[in-house]
Parts: sequence; structure tokens; C-alpha cells
Amino acid sequence: MLKIISVVGARPNFMKVAPIHRAVSARDDMEHLVVHTGQHYDAIMSDAFFRDLDLPKPARFLGVGSASHAQQTAKILVEFEKACLELEPDLVIVVGDVNSTMAAALVASKLNIPVAHVEAGLRSFDRTMPEEVNRAATDAVAQWAFVTEPSAIANLVSEGWPRDRVLFVGNTMIDTLVRALPEAKEQAGLDELGLEAQSYALVTIHRPSNVDDLAQLSSMVGFLEWLAEQQPVVFPLHPRTRKRLAEHGLLEKLESHTQIHALAPLPYPRFLGLMASAKLVVTDSGGIQEETTYLQVPCVTARTTTERPVTCEQGTNRLCAPEPAALREAVTAVLAGGASGTIPPYWDGLAAERIVEHIRDLRERGQLGVSRP
Ligand code: UD1
Repeated sequence: MLKIISVVGARPNFMKVAPIHRAVSARDDMEHLVVHTGQHYDAIMSDAFFRDLDLPKPARFLGVGSASHAQQTAKILVEFEKACLELEPDLVIVVGDVNSTMAAALVASKLNIPVAHVEAGLRSFDRTMPEEVNRAATDAVAQWAFVTEPSAIANLVSEGWPRDRVLFVGNTMIDTLVRALPEAKEQAGLDELGLEAQSYALVTIHRPSNVDDLAQLSSMVGFLEWLAEQQPVVFPLHPRTRKRLAEHGLLEKLESHTQIHALAPLPYPRFLGLMASAKLVVTDSGGIQEETTYLQVPCVTARTTTERPVTCEQGTNRLCAPEPAALREAVTAVLAGGASGTIPPYWDGLAAERIVEHIRDLRERGQLGVSRP
């Protein structure tokens, strides 16, 4: 039995691990355990996803909660080391780019447990983003890189990765989307909001660079007020965003606006349903750039860089400086002309199956071990 631990911590990890759990659990020569660091801990940021995505009860819940980056990372290091020593995995899988990803990879690698990074090699080349530091640090200690798009192969090879350790498998977040989409379309809850398909903008903003600074947050609120004059706006608020808006007395303004639906964070199926029927999406998220590309819904990303260039080159994503004038121009162009794109290779619902096939092959060839030339 090959014992595999997948680590989840924050909301975007859950969609990426669910299909891996399903694919590994279907095999009788592998055992799959999920360890949840507790970086996200609210019912709406975490528990609902376990239920909706058929994730198993975690083998360990580390309960680290929120704190500064150093404190949060340090707690994960200490607690995940204990979990690894008790559970003795043969392989640790980490996904994405959150603090939990980087901390778990570091722990496993120091214990000489092989680490596979799913969604490896993505680079925005902007080290002021905490996720960029996490991506680079995780890839520096991982043995196996499972990648979602060609840019990631080029990035890893240029950083010295041997090409045969970089495995192009596609996108496990898209596996989850493909599986959930038929039912999600029924769960958007448009009637409840008094909206019709293709007649609203869906917005998510939560990056520290967009919400932690008052001047930037105020200018994003100003942009949303303009956007609401073009199209009704559906705006599920990340806890970080809600907290900052409340601190600066901006929350009430949004909540009382008749054309802005400021909602709590949404369960995955409803959010996916809302994304699929939106006229356009405005976001600063990483994953939403990919989901809108698959759904072929126009996406304006309020950032000047992306670690996911395939979403702009092949998909429906366009980058835009997070400034009101530039955002207004980008949205006006999208509303006038839409956006067309193609679905990137291997974004087909089968990425987790490919990952498991590779793991099986590596194990059979005795290559799963920890050394990386
Ligand atoms: C984290 C990830 C980010 C990801 C995002 C998705 C890092 C560095 N960042 O950012 O890449 O896009 O998750 O959501 O790992 N909070 C709650 N309830 C929760 C979780 C958080 O109220 O369940 C509050 C915390 O108290 C904190 C804030 O939200 O004030 C931020 O949480 P944190 O995990 O530090 O970072 P995110 O901004 O969520």
C-alpha cells in the first residue's frame, strides 16, 4: 500500500485535492489521507467545501487559524511535522500556492518524504505577492512537478529542474469544475437576486494589494459603483475584504447599493453557477482566471501580472492595472465585444487520473524516492 497525504489549508486547495482524493481512493494499492492545516476555518470558507466536494474527514486537522505569515507558517511547520511522524506517508502532495502549501512541502522534504507539487511552476515574477514566494519555495524542495500549462514547464526547466520530473497533467481544479457544472447551473440562485443570466457582473477582490491599503480599496469601491451603473454587480465578500471595508466605513455603502449584491462567501456550486451565467467576471483571484477560461466567460483580472499566462494567450482573460480608469476601459471593451478563447490542452476533467497514473509508474520503476539531481 502506498500511503499518500494530500495537504489542504485554504479555500482554493479544496477543489484541487477533491479529484485527487477520488482518483487515489479508487485504487486498491494506494491509500489517501487528507490533512487540513486549518488556515481557513470558517464553515463557509472550509466545511461547506468538504461537504459539496465529497472530501473525506481529514486524518488530521491542525487548527492553525489566521495570524501573520510567519506565525501561520511556523504553526503549520510544527503541527504538520507531528502529523507526518505519526502517519508516516510515502508521498506528500501539496497543491497551489498558499502558506499551507509551502510549509507542508518544507516539512516533508526535511523528513525525506517525497513531495509532489500539483500546479507547480507557475510564476508571476512578482515577488511582492506572498503566493509567488510560496510557489518558488515549494518548487525548490519538491521532487515531482505536476503542471497545468506549458509556461510552467519552461519556468521549471529554466530554474534547473530536470525535464523528466516535470509532468504535464492538466488542471485538477478544472476536473472539479467539469464534474460540478451540470448541477451548479441550477444552483446559481439568480431568481433570489432578481437577476437573469448574461445580465450581471460577478466580482471577487481579496488580494492584500487591492484591499489592505485604504486608497486602493476606496478606488476599487469607486470602480464598483461605476460598474453597477453598467450591469448589476454580484460581489461575494472574502473575509479579508469584508473586514477591511468595515474598518474603513465602506461596507455599508456597498451593502445599501441597490445594484450591488454584497454577499457572504458562497458555496462552490453556487459560485460556479454564477460564474457560468455571468456577462463578465472581474477578479484578482488566481483560480478564477482559469475557471472563466474553461467556461469561456470574459474575465478582467485586476492585476498587472499573471502566473497563468495561458488564460490570456488562449483563454478569455485580460489583465488590467487595478486602477479605475483602466478597469473602466477594459470592462467597456468586454461589454462591447465579449471575449473568445479556447480551452487549454488537458483541461478536460482527467488531470487527477493522469497524476495517479504517473505516481503508479514512478513507484513501479522505483523512482518515487527523494533524490532530485
Ligand atoms: C489565502 C491565500 C491566497 C488565497 C486565499 C483564498 C496565502 C498567503 N494566501 O489568502 O493565496 O487566494 O487564501 O481565500 O496563503 N479569515 C476568516 N475566516 C477564514 C479564513 C480567513 O475570517 O476561514 C480571515 C482571517 O482572519 C484573516 C483573513 O481572512 O484576517 C485572511 O486570511 P488568510 O488565510 O491569512 O489569507 P487569505 O487572504 O484568505
